[in-house]
Amino acid sequence: MLDTDPSLIAALRADLAAADYSVTRVLDLLGPVAANALAREQVIPAERVTRESTDPAAVLVRLFTLGDPVDQARVEAALPRLGAAGALRLGLVRAEGDALLALVDLRPYGDDEHTWWIASDLSELATRAPLPVDHVLGVGGASATLAAWTPRPRVRRALDLGTGCGVQALHLSTHAEEIVATDISERALNIVRFNAALNEQDWDIRQGSMLEPVAGERFSLIVSNPPFVITPRDHGLPTYEYRDGGQSGDAVVEHLVTHLGEHLEPGGIAQIIGNWEVVGDAAWGERVADWAARAGVDVLVLMREMQDPAQYAETWARDGGQQSGTGEFARMYAAWLDDFAARGVSGIAFGLITLHRPADERTPWIEIRDARGPVRPPLGPVLLAQVEARDWLARHTDQEVLDTAWTVAPDVTLVQVSRPGEPDLSYLELRQSEGLQQSDLLSGDFGTAAAAYIGVADGELTARQAIVAIAALLDRDQAVLLDDFTIRIRQWVADGILR
Ligand SMILES: C[S@@+](CC[C@H](N)C(=O)[O-])C[C@H]1O[C@@H](n2cnc3c(N)ncnc32)[C@H](O)[C@@H]1O
Repeated sequence: MLDTDPSLIAALRADLAAADYSVTRVLDLLGPVAANALAREQVIPAERVTRESTDPAAVLVRLFTLGDPVDQARVEAALPRLGAAGALRLGLVRAEGDALLALVDLRPYGDDEHTWWIASDLSELATRAPLPVDHVLGVGGASATLAAWTPRPRVRRALDLGTGCGVQALHLSTHAEEIVATDISERALNIVRFNAALNEQDWDIRQGSMLEPVAGERFSLIVSNPPFVITPRDHGLPTYEYRDGGQSGDAVVEHLVTHLGEHLEPGGIAQIIGNWEVVGDAAWGERVADWAARAGVDVLVLMREMQDPAQYAETWARDGGQQSGTGEFARMYAAWLDDFAARGVSGIAFGLITLHRPADERTPWIEIRDARGPVRPPLGPVLLAQVEARDWLARHTDQEVLDTAWTVAPDVTLVQVSRPGEPDLSYLELRQSEGLQQSDLLSGDFGTAAAAYIGVADGELTARQAIVAIAALLDRDQAVLLDDFTIRIRQWVADGILR
C-alpha cells in the first residue's frame, strides 16, 4: 500500500520535477526505437539505452517502468530529497541486498500544457508474469481514447466513475472546479489517493460499485472508462477488477447508458467508452439503440471498431498476460466462444457513447453512427460541437433552420465531377479534413443545387434566400428544393459541415 505522508510526497514531487521526469524528457532519453518498442511492451531496447546512464530520469525509468533492480546509491542520487528511506516509507520500493526494486509503476504523463506523474501497479513487462486480478491499470490505450474524445467545457462538478489510477480525473482537473472520483477497488483507491496528493489535487474520492457512491447526485460532466470487457461467467476465468464489472455480457455498459442520464444536470454531458454485443443477424446498432431509447436523454453513439467473437476472445485472453499456444490460453479462448455462442453473439462493437441532458423539456434525440474511419484529433471539441449542434436543431423548427445564415466549416472541401456538356454534376462530394473526416456524396440534379448552395454559404444569405435564388437560376420547383435542402442542411449542421 502507498503512503500519502505530505512531507514525503512533497519531497518526491520536488525530486521528480528536478529530474525533469517528463514525457518529453523520457522520450528524448529513450529515442524513438526504444520508446516504440516499449509501447509494444518490449523492454530490451529501453534497458540497453538506460543501463549505464546516471541521468536521474533514466534511473527512474529503469526503476519504475522497466522494473529493474537499481543500486540504492543511484536511487539516492536520482531522488535526493526523498532518499531511499523515503521511497521505502512511501511504499514505492522494496530493498533486495544493495538494490531497490519498484513496488509500483511511476511515470510522467501529460498533455500539451501539463506534466503529471501517475503511479499504478507494475505492468506485465516489469513483473514478467500474468497480472493479478486486483491489478490497477496505468494509462492504457482505452484511457487515452476516452481522454482524447471527452468534450471539455468548463464545468462546476465532474465525476470520474471507475477512476483506477485517476488519469481521467487529472484531465478533468484542467476544466472542472470539483471532482468526484469513484472505484470499487480498494487498491485503486489507495493509488488514486497517492496520485491526487502527488499532483496536488483535492478530489472527493469514494469507494463503491457503479453509480451507488453518487446516488441522488448530479454532475455537469461524467466520464467513465468502465470495466466494459465482456467476460464469460461460470468458466473459472480470472475476474480482473480493472476490466470486468462482474456482470454477464454487456450489462455494465447497458446499465450506464440507461442510468447515467439521471445523474446529469440540465445541459450536462456524460462520455463513456465500451463494448456492446451484436446478436445474430441484427444490425450492429440495434442493441445500443434500444438502450439509448431507455436513456431518457440525448444519445450519440460513434462505433469505432467491430470484432468477431474469435478476435474478441484472442484480445482479452492475451490481455491478462497469457501467451497464445498455452493450455490456459486455449481454455480461455474456448470459454469466450461458448459464452458468445450461448447468447447468439455474432459481433462485438466498440465505441464512444455520449449522453446529454437537454437544458429544457424536449424529446431527446438519438444518433448512432458508424465512425470506423480515420479521425484527426482533437476529438473532444468535435463531439462537443456535434452535441451542441444537435441540441440547437432539436430546439428549432425547419423554418428557423431555413432562416439562418449558415457558413461552410473551414475544413470542408468540395469535389465536383461532371461529364463535359452535361448540365448536372455526376456527383458532388463534401469532405471534412478535420475531426471525424466525414464526407457526403450527392449526385444528380440535387448535387448541382447543393454545389451552388455550398458555394454561397458564407454567413451572408440565409439558407432560404440562397435556395430561392438557386431555384430560379436552375429553373427548379422552389418548394421541392426547400424541402430537400431542409433535410440535408439539418444533417450538415449536425455533422459540423455547416456552422
Ligand atoms: C478500465 S479501468 C479504467 C481506469 C481509468 N479510469 C482509466 O481510464 O484508465 C476500470 C476501472 O473500473 C473499476 N471498477 C471495476 N468494477 C467496478 C464497479 N462495479 N464499480 C466501479 N468501478 C469499478 C476498476 O477497479 C478500474 O479501476
